[in-house]
Amino acid sequence: MTAPATGRKKPRVYLTRKLPDAVETRMRELFDAELNIDDTPRTRAELAAAMAEVDVLVPTVTDRIDAELIEKAGPNLKLIAGFSNGTDHIDVDAAAKRGITVTNTPNVLTEDTADMTMALIFAVMRRLVEGSQVLMDKPGQWEGWSPTWMLGRRIGGKRIGIIGMGRIGTAVARRAKAFGLAVHYHNRGPINPATEAELEATHWDSLDQMLARVDIVSVNCPSTPATFHLLSARRLALMQPSSVIVNTARGDVIDEAALIQLLRDGKIAGAGLDVFQNEPAINPKLLKLAKEGKAVLFPHMGSATLEGRIDMGDKVIINIRAYYDGHRPPNRVLPGRD
Ligand code: DGY
Repeated sequence: MTAPATGRKKPRVYLTRKLPDAVETRMRELFDAELNIDDTPRTRAELAAAMAEVDVLVPTVTDRIDAELIEKAGPNLKLIAGFSNGTDHIDVDAAAKRGITVTNTPNVLTEDTADMTMALIFAVMRRLVEGSQVLMDKPGQWEGWSPTWMLGRRIGGKRIGIIGMGRIGTAVARRAKAFGLAVHYHNRGPINPATEAELEATHWDSLDQMLARVDIVSVNCPSTPATFHLLSARRLALMQPSSVIVNTARGDVIDEAALIQLLRDGKIAGAGLDVFQNEPAINPKLLKLAKEGKAVLFPHMGSATLEGRIDMGDKVIINIRAYYDGHRPPNRVLPGRD
């Protein structure tokens, strides 16, 4: 990594999407920042044109920064300072080959994403969206409370199986324990013994075995070549018919077509999805299942808090500043990690 000396003119920084005002203002103060005020997603041609000119690209999860774009980047582009935790949309290996540093924004969206995971669990188990729709779709027609109507499933006392016990998975586990769920998890390896003891968590080497035993499956692992369709048709079929699955990680970790089939056949009781395989396109069959009360769908809102997005922006700024001050950016993403 060779960062330019300090005292030079401001680096040209290209933002692909609108960011919170506070972040954009600071970026304009510190950098020669090109904003995207009307937030129109950039086309591939626009990205290529920008990458040919600027010093720093600030992409988000909606921009696919693949090897082809990176290979065509201009000589000035030295830093891709991603406004995201996940880096599956950036070819980090291709960037490294071109001498381009990649950074991300870890830690600051952990709690918000874990909150959203719990929100999905509640929404699916307690039929929150369905209940709200009764009032919204047929105003004035609610006939009142009934002992046997709109019954969901109790959260406390159930078992949750968390796939991926990194920062977000662990934050989900803490919340789940507080709500009286027994925590089970599958991870590359066991987490540190003190945290495992605190969470009273059970580690499963075998994802297959865990899936067959838990009531709620929560997907909290990153999208990598190794986790693509980790929840394959075969694995999903191991889940109990009364169990539910929630996903706030990435859509492609689940074989969505297989999940749809199992939900339709009543072999899985429900799904709560914040992410989708072909995002932003949503499979119409999923929408149908949502209308039937078998799925709750959110539009990738896991980290969508004002505080979280400002914190993410601050991280991007710190990474750019560190780089241009000649230091290793704190959130450098190393190539070849999966
Ligand atoms: C990320 O930053 O990776 C998140 O998915 C955005 O919500």
